[in-house]
Amino acid sequence: MQKAIRFGAVASLLFMTAGCIQQSSGEEGSKGTIGIAMPTQSSERWIADGNQMVAYFEELGYDTDLQYAEDIVENQFSQIENMITRGVDALVIASIDGETLTSVLESANAENIPVISYDRLIMNSEYVDYYATFDNYKVGVLQGEYIVEALNLEEEEGPFNIELFAGSPDDNNATFFFKGAMSVLQPYIDQGKLVVPSGQTDFNQIAILGWDGAKAQSRMDNLLSSNYGGGEELHAVLAPADLLSIGIIASLKNSGYTVDTMPIITGQDADLPAVNAVIKGEQAMTVFKDTRLLAKKAVEMTEAVLQGEEPEVNDTNTYDNNAKVVPAFLEEPVVVDQDNYEEVLVDSGYYEASQLDQ
Ligand code: GAL
Repeated sequence: MQKAIRFGAVASLLFMTAGCIQQSSGEEGSKGTIGIAMPTQSSERWIADGNQMVAYFEELGYDTDLQYAEDIVENQFSQIENMITRGVDALVIASIDGETLTSVLESANAENIPVISYDRLIMNSEYVDYYATFDNYKVGVLQGEYIVEALNLEEEEGPFNIELFAGSPDDNNATFFFKGAMSVLQPYIDQGKLVVPSGQTDFNQIAILGWDGAKAQSRMDNLLSSNYGGGEELHAVLAPADLLSIGIIASLKNSGYTVDTMPIITGQDADLPAVNAVIKGEQAMTVFKDTRLLAKKAVEMTEAVLQGEEPEVNDTNTYDNNAKVVPAFLEEPVVVDQDNYEEVLVDSGYYEASQLDQ
């Protein structure tokens, strides 16, 4: 028994470090191997993205080499380097730090390996062929609009207290989310209907490196003790993603907030803990980005490039990575809250009802 457990642990360790090489079951032989480099398994969305791409690539007759780097920049670099050495035919990469892959993409280019940037834009390289993502600015707009509607800022004078969080500064998406949200919230701050008691409104003050929920939790602890010690109420928190909102909720609960007194808290990704927090009423909303759509799009893009065809894109202006404007396909993000989570997440088959605390 003990041996079996130990073997299991070793096997899963090997599995994690070696990643996962899948062979297509196609009978005519493989059309090639696709290297898929994903950032981390700490948010379920990336697990879903990886698994779905593997499934779609296999359907088309490709083998895949799926690797997660657990948010360690150097590991992702060497995983991609190894994929190139092993001779993959294309790379799909969701970067950890978008600014650190310039030289490894040069190696990919030297071997004529096309690169698809997945969800996050890879910066500072002309060798990013295409970009499959969601409308990142719109994600922020949806979060801002939700706060405006929930506090009824059109009618109410307030002032309402809000604190702002942003994502990881090494992730190009983080500024898009923040700018989108502030395009909606800033006018209400200017009118005095929204007030930020901490005064922390600059991206650099509010960004959470590595999308780390524990860091978000401790920043929220500090905000509460420095600015809300006299019983001031917090009415809203702009949280860019579920990894952070979950830490923020933990901090608020520790300092006495309950379901009934929780501020309006936003999120993104429809990760299970956050969806359950929405159902409970601790988190107001999350922005759902259907990973099935994005995975399919990235697979179609890769297939098109490998077949010498032009992939479908719908944005050729927005995503300048400092070396080129990368042609992109933007999928549509969707607001999920208590009113529609069943329809959007359960009826569509994204989650089983049994996975949710209903
Ligand atoms: C972003 C991504 C979000 C969220 C976040 C943290 O780049 O677009 O969906 O997952 O990273 O992982």
